[in-house]
Amino acid sequence: MREKIVASNWKMNKTLYEGLNLVRDLQMAMNGKTINCNIIVCPPFIHLASLATLTFSGIVRLGAQNCSDKASGAYTGEVSAAMLASVGIHYVILGHSERRAYYGETNAMLKEKVKLALNHVLQPIFCIGEVLAEREAGIQKEVVEKQIRESLFDLSAKEFGNIVLAYEPVWAIGTGKTATSEQAQEMHAFIRATIADKYGSAVAEETSILYGGSCNAGNAKELFTNPDVDGGLIGGASLAVETLLPIIEAFS
Ligand code: PGA
Repeated sequence: MREKIVASNWKMNKTLYEGLNLVRDLQMAMNGKTINCNIIVCPPFIHLASLATLTFSGIVRLGAQNCSDKASGAYTGEVSAAMLASVGIHYVILGHSERRAYYGETNAMLKEKVKLALNHVLQPIFCIGEVLAEREAGIQKEVVEKQIRESLFDLSAKEFGNIVLAYEPVWAIGTGKTATSEQAQEMHAFIRATIADKYGSAVAEETSILYGGSCNAGNAKELFTNPDVDGGLIGGASLAVETLLPIIEAFS
């Protein structure tokens, strides 16, 4: 059975104190409840080492929002995969559309990041998704296939087994405009078929594919009941326990 996951992407939000409180409050709110998914919390880099010192219940793990495409050296301001692993991080979001759009991250650069992450036993949460103009032109599947192929398809099947994918239509991120349940399922099924073509159906069936883009308490359940939607990558709604917990509980 592939893993069900709710991953929080805090983006550039929360001071250290606010972040520590949010994680503590979330764990307290889940105490005594049956939780049917794994939870990944991705705060800004600077909070990771402090958050790693908290005692986590088994289902909560930490991820970073990015890592460098270089192993080490004279790259001012960058954080390497090795550094993340050294503070006890398990996941790293790679290829988020904000990184692609605002920081010029290309499929080729992301391929390097993925390799470095895997070399340090970090599981990439690899983001893919089309912009509105591409959806309107009807080329969303080609766009997503290219993102996957150019950054991930050099991996061996064994390496690919450590990838979590997140389909995030860019027009749905932070806009309050969620993909419909049908749009999400159609794209997730396409992504799984693309993986099956390359690595075979066993690998494809084991790959968790998350949906991201204005996922909230009101739409999570419907999105997550789709057979190919294995959870969510949550931005805005991950910033408060009241908005995140119902998404986690959508896996009932
Ligand atoms: P959102 O962000 O939930 O605020 O739309 C999702 C994301 O960018 O990962």
